[in-house]
Amino acid sequence: MKIRIKNNFKNFDYDYLVGTNILAELLDKVAKDYFSVIIVTDSNIDSLYLGKKFDNYSKIVIAPGEESKSFESLNKLLGEFSKIGLKRNCLVVAIGGGVIGDLAGFAASIYMRGVDYWQVPTTLVAMVDSSIGGKTGINTEFGKNLIGSFYPPKKIVVDLNFAQKLPKSEVKNGLAEMYKHCLIENYNHLNNLISNPLSEKSVISSAKVKIKIIEKDPLEKNIRKYLNIGHTVGHAIEKESKLQIPHGMAVAIGIKIESKIAKKLGILNDQNYNKIISDLALLNLDFDYKIENLDKFVKLMASDKKNMSQKICFALVSTPGKKIVIVDLEPENVVKILSEI
Ligand SMILES: NC(=O)c1ccc[n+]([C@@H]2O[C@H](COP(=O)([O-])OP(=O)(O)OC[C@H]3O[C@@H](n4cnc5c(N)ncnc54)[C@H](O)[C@@H]3O)[C@@H](O)[C@H]2O)c1
Repeated sequence: MKIRIKNNFKNFDYDYLVGTNILAELLDKVAKDYFSVIIVTDSNIDSLYLGKKFDNYSKIVIAPGEESKSFESLNKLLGEFSKIGLKRNCLVVAIGGGVIGDLAGFAASIYMRGVDYWQVPTTLVAMVDSSIGGKTGINTEFGKNLIGSFYPPKKIVVDLNFAQKLPKSEVKNGLAEMYKHCLIENYNHLNNLISNPLSEKSVISSAKVKIKIIEKDPLEKNIRKYLNIGHTVGHAIEKESKLQIPHGMAVAIGIKIESKIAKKLGILNDQNYNKIISDLALLNLDFDYKIENLDKFVKLMASDKKNMSQKICFALVSTPGKKIVIVDLEPENVVKILSEI
């Protein structure tokens, strides 16, 4: 299955390809067009899937985990690129979850002022979300994804073979993002998620929602903000828990709390609110979370780089699958609302 993604801010379009065991053949086909091909991956994926496969290409293996989205790893990667002697006519192949995709994509965007790269997403989050749309970057001590670029890949290759050994926790992380896509545009997609989130049908149906949005708003000026449903609260939960609460769980809690905020503001009616809560339960994503210190929590939300002013930006569901509303609220107002719900 192939979807052509229109790239409205650079001068090329690119394919999102989905299938099983498709990577090797695709790679061998294009390799002759490049001076060299280099794979960037993490040690989990390397030991679970790659091993001696693709031995005809150079490979850089990074430590797994969010800590690798750092200046140190970026430096290591760029140093390796130079040592291997990568020229401008090379292809970087990022095989991994969002961490490898963001890091290797960013390295590709700045090495020799930009070389070609492919996204080969191996987690569900990466397959339906992070590999699509060309956002790349690293974290700094001052914030998540603070340094980065918009740099679309030449291809996204979703090889479902990589989904075979995904831990349950990673499937759950992906499921929260997929449910977010249902809320934005394709509510019927929920049935696919309930039956099998890892099926080709589910992955494609979810990816299509993100593709449609980034085609219309590549630089997040307007509707790309819809993808932040559950994330304003979710990111604060991740920060408050020092990343002990996984991203998917934080987003699911975020969807629940933000739905309460939307109900309080009269944006979401009782019936639709109840629908969202029962969907979360159906997907085993209904978690409780107690905010300990409201002022501190709201400060964490206010520090999110997505806010354009002192106000806190929320993407709130009004009608599941049909209508999302972007609201910017004063921090004091958010403290008040959270204390009342
Ligand atoms: N660029 C974007 O638009 C965008 C969007 C959403 C998230 N992100 C970023 O994505 C990152 C999170 O990505 P993630 O959730 O994929 O996490 P991740 O890349 O850290 O992967 C999670 C874990 O799963 C392991 N893993 C990966 N593929 C596997 C497989 N096939 N089988 C078994 N284990 C596997 C990894 O080694 C890692 O331990 C965050 O840094 C986030 O900021 C970026």
